[in-house]
Amino acid sequence: MIKPIYVTQAALPPLEEFIQYLEQIWNTKVLTNNGPFHQQFEKELSDYLGVKYLSLFANGTLALVTALQALRITGEVITTPFSFVATTHALWWNNIKPVFVDIEPKYFTLNPEKIESAITPQTTAILPVHVYGNPCRTEEIQKIADTYNLRVIYDAAHSFGVSINDNSLLNYGDLSILSFHATKTFNTIEGGAIICADEKTKKRIDFLKNFGFADEVTVIEPGINAKMNELQAAYGLVQLKHIDKYIAKRKIISDLYRNKLSNINGIRVIDEIEGIKHSYTYFPILVDVKIYRETRDELYERLKKHNIHGRRYFYPLISQFPSYRSLPSANKENLPVATKVAEQVICLPIYPDLDILSVNIICDIIKSLRK
Ligand SMILES: Cc1ncc(COP(=O)(O)O)c(C=O)c1O
Repeated sequence: MIKPIYVTQAALPPLEEFIQYLEQIWNTKVLTNNGPFHQQFEKELSDYLGVKYLSLFANGTLALVTALQALRITGEVITTPFSFVATTHALWWNNIKPVFVDIEPKYFTLNPEKIESAITPQTTAILPVHVYGNPCRTEEIQKIADTYNLRVIYDAAHSFGVSINDNSLLNYGDLSILSFHATKTFNTIEGGAIICADEKTKKRIDFLKNFGFADEVTVIEPGINAKMNELQAAYGLVQLKHIDKYIAKRKIISDLYRNKLSNINGIRVIDEIEGIKHSYTYFPILVDVKIYRETRDELYERLKKHNIHGRRYFYPLISQFPSYRSLPSANKENLPVATKVAEQVICLPIYPDLDILSVNIICDIIKSLRK
């Protein structure tokens, strides 16, 4: 039995580097409210990601909630059931009705071919997810949005540093949101951001994440407290110095999995995308019981017996949770691809400190026959 291996392990920056920043915070005693590290981190992060305007948040969920408010989204929003619950919860918190549309079978992102028939007079926006960091079909989605005058907010929580042909994936749609949760490729312990294309929108977002304050005496509307604090921002500045190394290590693991698992009957590895620079937040595989002879759950349990703890992201579908399952669009017949993928998927452990020997052991277990 090897020591437990979980689906992820946070990458922490070198403590001695972080302590230097902490000493500065202890000297200035500025802890939050758009302090110097917050400002520096916003600037350095925008440059690193290749985006125009970025607003830091306490976490990705509050970034999503605020993104919807920033664009004054109401009524119904078309979204995917194949994501982390926060995607739909952000709609719920804004009193918006989610309308689930099925995913496409290759990369499991919102299927543009299914969007139009879900549009009603109440539809105001589309909320797709670049799930596992794989890009949505952004051009087709934008075309539909333009035709029906809808806004597009991308949940890009898995897409830190992902670019296509050297253009950041975060530059598509009206807004994108990121999560810097401890489990993500880039973490600030908890944290997140909204990316937008113009200064006016950034200003509105900055007001909304600070109770709605525009200045000392002006509150534009009921905003929330979603500010990133100085310790998170300082931690983020140190992380930024190491992120390329973290991504490079993830790529080695991803390549090894891909190489070792691609030819196992009944195991599907998701195709690579031409021209993409990925950041390898997850390594999902699909288990086809008819060919592999074990169900996904049997493989998941067998891995667990070896102390390897993959995760069935994203099972159950969001549309199956009690708050959402009575919606007409949550019906499984409306979501056949998502339903199937949710029953077949396991995300395997991937993180910078995962050693090659462990990856080989995981692959050998998957390769070996059950009986
Ligand atoms: C797709 C997706 N959206 C939103 C979130 C919420 O981000 P946070 O945990 O930073 O609130 C997460 C994950 O954690 C996520 O995976």
